[in-house]
Amino acid sequence: MPDVLIAEDIRGNGVDALSARFDVSFQPDLWRDPVRLATQLGEARALIVRNQTTVDAALLRSAKKLLVIGRAGVGLDNVDVAAATRAGTVVTYTPDQNAISVAELAIGLMISLARNIPAASADTQGGKWSRRRFWGTELYGKSFGIIGAGRIGFLTARRAQALGMKILACDPLISRDNVLLSELSAESLSLEDLLTRADVISCHLPATPKTTKLLDAACFARMKPTAIFLNTSRGQVVDEAALLAALKRGELGGAGLDVRAKEPPEVSELEKLPNVLLTPHIGALTYEAQDRVTAAICEDVARVLDGKAPFYAVRHC
Ligand code: MLT
Repeated sequence: MPDVLIAEDIRGNGVDALSARFDVSFQPDLWRDPVRLATQLGEARALIVRNQTTVDAALLRSAKKLLVIGRAGVGLDNVDVAAATRAGTVVTYTPDQNAISVAELAIGLMISLARNIPAASADTQGGKWSRRRFWGTELYGKSFGIIGAGRIGFLTARRAQALGMKILACDPLISRDNVLLSELSAESLSLEDLLTRADVISCHLPATPKTTKLLDAACFARMKPTAIFLNTSRGQVVDEAALLAALKRGELGGAGLDVRAKEPPEVSELEKLPNVLLTPHIGALTYEAQDRVTAAICEDVARVLDGKAPFYAVRHC
């Protein structure tokens, strides 16, 4: 029985370093088979997952010796932290390591939508030269609103600011004199005001009962008819039916979604709309981010196995 069970596709030097010291079983598809996962977890002291494995109370009951769950990423919606805490298992994660990559994707989606880059490229690669079809919008001088002003929201806003955009922010957990917001000279607003005023709205929220379908029909109705809506956080925060209806009614200019309520999603009319860009939850998938994530999670797991405190323990309050 292995010491460390890796149940998803996590690779890099961090895994090699961990394997040199512990008995590591790397099974990138194990998350697909919860029964086999539960059996294999029996004697393991550490479990490392990404965002596909459901680590719930039932799975944790099958673990006899589990000291640590390493979540290679930032979202914790697939890990029952409360149940892990009750079971005496530490949960660690990697809150900083992929933030730049997610921020860069959000900016990429924004520029792509503002300038019709994917459609113009597909048209030109099809042998056409349709200059008049692809007029765009400048971002300079426009307002960039972040919903959720944590690490990724901050890094995304900083990049938008470098394009000459004015930053608006909404985060009920962050005070108006927050140092990150003041570094961005951001205006802290209520959700309603941000939705009304922003030219680009970028979601950076965790999936929790409070944020589920937070972006609903009323929110889309408040947005400017030219607004670009971006979500690179969690699909559950958006009411997709309401977003689709708003796009079809012309209530907003476009949407860029890297995440969906259900992944992979059912094919819907969203896929057919010309002012929508969809990517398959690739925000964190860069070589640089994944090297950092793997190194950080493997180091933290090794620390717990060595009896040391992890750097990024998640506390359940
Ligand atoms: C995250 O939560 O870190 C991202 O969604 C990426 C991932 O889990 O792979």
